[in-house]
Amino acid sequence: MYHAAVTGWGMYVPEHVLTNDDLTQFMDTSDEWIRSRTGIRERRVAGATETTTTMAAAAGRAACLKAGIDPTELELIIVGTFTPDQYMPSTASLVQHELGASSAAAFDLNTACSGFVYAMAVGSQFVQTGAYSRVLIIGADFASRFLDYSDRGTAILFGDGAGAVVLQRSEKKEGVLSIELGSDGSAGRHLTLGGAESFVGLNGARKIDRPFLKMNGAEVFRFAVRIMGEAAATATTKAGLTFDDIDLLIPHQANSRIIEAAAKRLQMPRERVWVNVDRYANTSCASIPICLVEAEQTGRLTDGMNVVVIGFGGGLTWAAAVLRWGATGVKRGDAT
Ligand code: UT7
Repeated sequence: MYHAAVTGWGMYVPEHVLTNDDLTQFMDTSDEWIRSRTGIRERRVAGATETTTTMAAAAGRAACLKAGIDPTELELIIVGTFTPDQYMPSTASLVQHELGASSAAAFDLNTACSGFVYAMAVGSQFVQTGAYSRVLIIGADFASRFLDYSDRGTAILFGDGAGAVVLQRSEKKEGVLSIELGSDGSAGRHLTLGGAESFVGLNGARKIDRPFLKMNGAEVFRFAVRIMGEAAATATTKAGLTFDDIDLLIPHQANSRIIEAAAKRLQMPRERVWVNVDRYANTSCASIPICLVEAEQTGRLTDGMNVVVIGFGGGLTWAAAVLRWGATGVKRGDAT
């Protein structure tokens, strides 16, 4: 068995900043309410020429550049997203074309906001078994196109963006050390996009509504706090580590209160928890890779550090992984 080291990382967020005060222009809300209940100050919103594919491709291109590989060398691209531009072709195939990654297999994976960590879990299997040695994992979402701005409890929470990592075959114990995935379909009704009525067949009633993201916030909140604690603990144990060995916790950025409550349960001090929900809100599948990029860029994440990443979202699903940052065991020619 090989290891799947993280050799490159990249992110993309749209330029357009939508502040809480901007939202008050067309919604019955306030900056004070949003800040105190969620920690969010502003979010990025995709412009007229931006799509899930363009954002994903930009993040993927940056990750390849950082890894020092040409996209033509990629063998697999997985895009975690619940907001693809089309049902078909997949966002991953569209990204493959944008990048010129002509040798890569490509598919999308939809587990809502936990999609990036799920995709990383799947991609790492191909690397660890030796089937592939260069895999691009992208998390990208364009949730703002599915928000109902008359639903103030949901619309304030989301922003758009993309993040990506390159996984490469390594001879050393680094990169993805453990994974912990799960799903509770019995609670799926608490977070949905497009009801069954959007998918009627030939003999069904023809009721095509524009699909909107709908959420039972309180239920998702309770679930998130519990599952983040449990999944992080299990992934850490599976990696043969304890929380004392964890240098950085990167939780899905949905709400600062959820993050604080989960960190408290895990007895993880604030300085070991990455938070940027104030600037981007919930970017769904992009949330965790954006955090990885920012943590690395600011010097908070360096070679040899152990990081726990934890995603949760529609399904309801969850996904945690322990990563050891660095790529010392990647052979020359496989990384810079
Ligand atoms: O990636 C997965 C994602 N989703 C999540 O993780 C979200 C999880 N849930 C949450 O973050 C929180 O439940 C929310 C932020 C959505 C809501 O916070 P809350 O503290 O649970 O508020 P609430 O829903 O209990 O609402 C409290 C009050 C209500 O008014 P009344 O009925 O008490 O008069 C709401 O109508 O706040 C009102 N409210 C608002 N007021 C101003 C709800 N949204 C807003 C708003 N501005 N945007």
